[in-house]
Amino acid sequence: MNVTTTHNRVEVMHGVNLDMLGKRPAEHYGNLGLDELVTRVRRYAHELDLEVRFYHTNHEGEFVEHLHRLRGLTDGAVLNLGAWTHYSWAIRDALEIAAVPAVEVHLSDLSAREEWRQRSVLEGLVVESISGKGPDGYREALTLLKREIPG
Ligand code: DQA
Repeated sequence: MNVTTTHNRVEVMHGVNLDMLGKRPAEHYGNLGLDELVTRVRRYAHELDLEVRFYHTNHEGEFVEHLHRLRGLTDGAVLNLGAWTHYSWAIRDALEIAAVPAVEVHLSDLSAREEWRQRSVLEGLVVESISGKGPDGYREALTLLKREIPG
């Protein structure tokens, strides 16, 4: 029997307040709502021949439990944690438990914003951190993950 396993599953996870995109300062986050962003990212994934799934919650514990469930069920993750980026050590630990290659994305340019946004709990754990490229940052993240995932 010839069994072919595909390794192309990517989970795109959005955290706290990202369901409010479209109602947040456009100079940082642009005008797309979360649904429109998801449509855009789905297209990027299709172009890259990746199978993509999306998840959003405003609840940290639910986010953590979703990461726990990913173990063995996905080949990579794209994470925009929102403000959790800057203080949720629980999410860092959960990603370590999930043991999947991940890329961190931020729509806004964190290096040009408040000091408290300069630090990410995911430092050293993610393949790359992309910031300030808007929705295009997600395409870059998917491209990097595709390279990272064993064929
Ligand atoms: C964000 C940046 C965070 O600092 C902020 O709290 C967000 C969104 C971004 O996509 O630029 O909610 O992750």
